[in-house]
Amino acid sequence: MLKGKTLKMDKPPLRKYYDKLRFVFLISLTFCFSLLLLDYYMAVSDRGITFLLFHMNDANHAQIPKPSFFIFNETADSPGKIKYTNQNNVSTGASNLPSCIVENHSEITVPAAQGEVHERDISPPHLNRDNVGVVANLSSRNLDSCSGQYIYVHDLASRFNEDLLKGCHSLMRWFDMCPYVSNLGLGPKVIEKSKETVLLKENWYATNQFSLEVIFHNIMKHYKCLTKDSSLASAIYVPYYAGLDVGQYLWGGFNVSTRDASPKELVKWLAQQPEWKRMWGRDHFIVGGRIGWDFRRVTDMDDDWGTKLMLLPEARNMSILLIEAVDSKENEFPIPYPTYFHPSKDREIFQWQKKMRNVKRPYLFSFAGAPRPGSNSSTSIRNEIIKQCQSSRSCKLLNCHDSLHHNYCNDPVHVTKVFQSSVFCIQPPGDSFTRRSTFDSILAGCIPVFFHPESAYDQYLWHFPKNGSSYSVYIPETDVTQKRVIINNTLSKVPKSEVLAMQKEIIRLIPRIIYRYPSSRLETVEDAFDVAVKGIIGRIEAIKRNITTVNDSSS
Ligand SMILES: *[C@@H]1O[C@H](CO)[C@@H](O)[C@H](O)[C@H]1NC(C)=O
Ligand SMILES: *[C@@H]1O[C@H](CO)[C@@H](O)[C@H](O)[C@H]1NC(C)=O
Ligand SMILES: *[C@@H]1O[C@H](CO)[C@@H](O)[C@H](O)[C@H]1NC(C)=O
Ligand SMILES: *[C@@H]1O[C@H](CO)[C@@H](O)[C@H](O)[C@H]1NC(C)=O
Ligand SMILES: *[C@@H]1O[C@H](CO)[C@@H](O)[C@H](O)[C@H]1NC(C)=O
Ligand SMILES: *[C@@H]1O[C@H](CO)[C@@H](O)[C@H](O)[C@H]1NC(C)=O
Ligand SMILES: *[C@@H]1O[C@H](CO)[C@@H](O)[C@H](O)[C@H]1NC(C)=O
Ligand SMILES: *[C@@H]1O[C@H](CO)[C@@H](O)[C@H](O)[C@H]1NC(C)=O
Ligand SMILES: *[C@@H]1O[C@H](CO)[C@@H](O)[C@H](O)[C@H]1NC(C)=O
Ligand SMILES: *[C@@H]1O[C@H](CO)[C@@H](O)[C@H](O)[C@H]1NC(C)=O
Ligand SMILES: *[C@@H]1O[C@H](CO)[C@@H](O)[C@H](O)[C@H]1NC(C)=O
Repeated sequence: MLKGKTLKMDKPPLRKYYDKLRFVFLISLTFCFSLLLLDYYMAVSDRGITFLLFHMNDANHAQIPKPSFFIFNETADSPGKIKYTNQNNVSTGASNLPSCIVENHSEITVPAAQGEVHERDISPPHLNRDNVGVVANLSSRNLDSCSGQYIYVHDLASRFNEDLLKGCHSLMRWFDMCPYVSNLGLGPKVIEKSKETVLLKENWYATNQFSLEVIFHNIMKHYKCLTKDSSLASAIYVPYYAGLDVGQYLWGGFNVSTRDASPKELVKWLAQQPEWKRMWGRDHFIVGGRIGWDFRRVTDMDDDWGTKLMLLPEARNMSILLIEAVDSKENEFPIPYPTYFHPSKDREIFQWQKKMRNVKRPYLFSFAGAPRPGSNSSTSIRNEIIKQCQSSRSCKLLNCHDSLHHNYCNDPVHVTKVFQSSVFCIQPPGDSFTRRSTFDSILAGCIPVFFHPESAYDQYLWHFPKNGSSYSVYIPETDVTQKRVIINNTLSKVPKSEVLAMQKEIIRLIPRIIYRYPSSRLETVEDAFDVAVKGIIGRIEAIKRNITTVNDSSS
């Protein structure tokens, strides 16, 4: 367009005048476009990283551009939206990241990015057809609230997910999982008897504690920033139902080759995909609805526990989100167990929080659980707790061992009723350190009492406040087993003001520990899924920076 128009000297004066006008007009247009472009780069610079990362030389991570040069005003964002900036601040959740992945930002150097930016600053884009195309897309991109939040979901063969659900009768040796995989993994809908008002009318389900991966996958299907273009993605989700898969083989004498068949097949496939090569799978993540030990079998002996999924070389490069991590494994990230409430609107959450704020709590504390059979009765914390609870009128015991009451422990109405009638909920370790009950109690506004740091404080760093005393009571396990502490006395001595402050904090946490109804969108509230996604994207950003930094310092 520009090239075809050259000034000719033999034009009449008026024509010359028009040509001048047109020239001025074109210059100002060019100026406007360059302003727009600059603005565009500021707004999408996060996407810019992934773009360039992919399209540049994949192998050379020294050149990963990191446009932290720009400053994007966070406060201009709408509230409730996941905030994501380039100010070396991964996300507002960064402070909750485990210390091992919080970066030393002062070391990040970004020469490549700045060089490129300057070049673009100086020379305005030429007005050729390609650039007009880019400009045409600018306005929509400027408004892109997904920048830095895109997730690409691998399209796995159905044997890694959907087929497991079809075989739900044999997923668990001890019970039939089929009812629980219904309703997108939420389980059967809970309908209260007409007289009861323990729950809200809508969106309560008898959710199984091992359904996390199904629920997570179904929420992800409606995630607002999905992309089919993996080069735009900040993280790559692998929707493998790792926990349901291993769950089939944990009991019944299955040999290790049977147990490891799917995990091995999966990682082999993943490593062959083009998405893998970009970061050797280090931007990939899996969600497993079981504890870390179920995926970390060290030996190849048949009587050893679980699969070796997380010890396969490919999986070591990926991250896994699960309900309980093995202590200090840096690619395991614990996220809340699923509980019973799966709201589809902000309003329902606020309504529930209000209800929990105002409910009467006649019991000082309660315990819902069973002793561990075979455990040494004089050293078992659960036996001691049950004994103390039975002998204290201020404690409500929901004995899940007792066959008379057994069904109550799986009844969301009954469990929630006990917890919402109690100030404190006792959460001792059981088969492992964490319990689903912790999340049921928070949901009911009941302050959890922990006996081991691995039950919460060292686990849910993305979802729980850093300061454990702000939302829970800690009693060292041995104080109870060695009978140095009477739980009733310890809890009744907590000052009223502290109880109120903890209750307030617990109720504030409710949205962060629930998984919304999969096809719904919450407006201002971040649920457990949102917090987890923010966490994993932050973690992957940290890895990207690490790769850059390591390479910079070595070169
Ligand atoms: C960001 O924007 C808000 C509102 O638009 C303004 O009050 C604030 O001063 C800005 N902050 C910076 C650092 O520019
Ligand atoms: C990062 O965020 C934290 C809190 O969100 C803030 O205190 C800190 O100043 C921020 N750092 C930068 C470099 O913006
Ligand atoms: C960053 O690199 C260091 C040294 O190689 C390593 O110890 C650390 O775990 C890495 N952090 C992440 C987030 O990969
Ligand atoms: C971060 O790096 C700077 C410069 O290398 C160093 O002086 C500082 O102590 C480091 N901070 C932390 C928290 O490691
Ligand atoms: C601009 O948008 C059109 C369709 O909206 C698309 O075909 C084209 O690839 C986009 N251009 C760029 C550079 O993204
Ligand atoms: C493992 O068990 C499967 C099915 O029971 C069997 O086919 C296979 O031969 C066994 N493998 C080994 C190494 O024992
Ligand atoms: C895992 O990542 C490292 C780099 O961090 C890479 O050298 C290695 O090849 C990767 N492993 C696999 C199986 O892709
Ligand atoms: C139970 O623990 C006590 C105290 O540690 C010990 O004396 C006793 O021998 C143990 N009993 C069994 C059956 O292990
Ligand atoms: C943790 O919270 C408790 C109770 O709110 C408070 O007394 C204490 O000072 C806090 N500790 C820290 C390190 O902030
Ligand atoms: C619980 O402890 C308080 C304070 O020590 C005491 O007054 C009360 O009698 C105890 N209640 C029961 C049922 O043991
Ligand atoms: C860093 O980049 C150099 C090329 O600049 C490359 O040869 C080297 O393999 C890279 N190192 C790492 C650890 O990625």
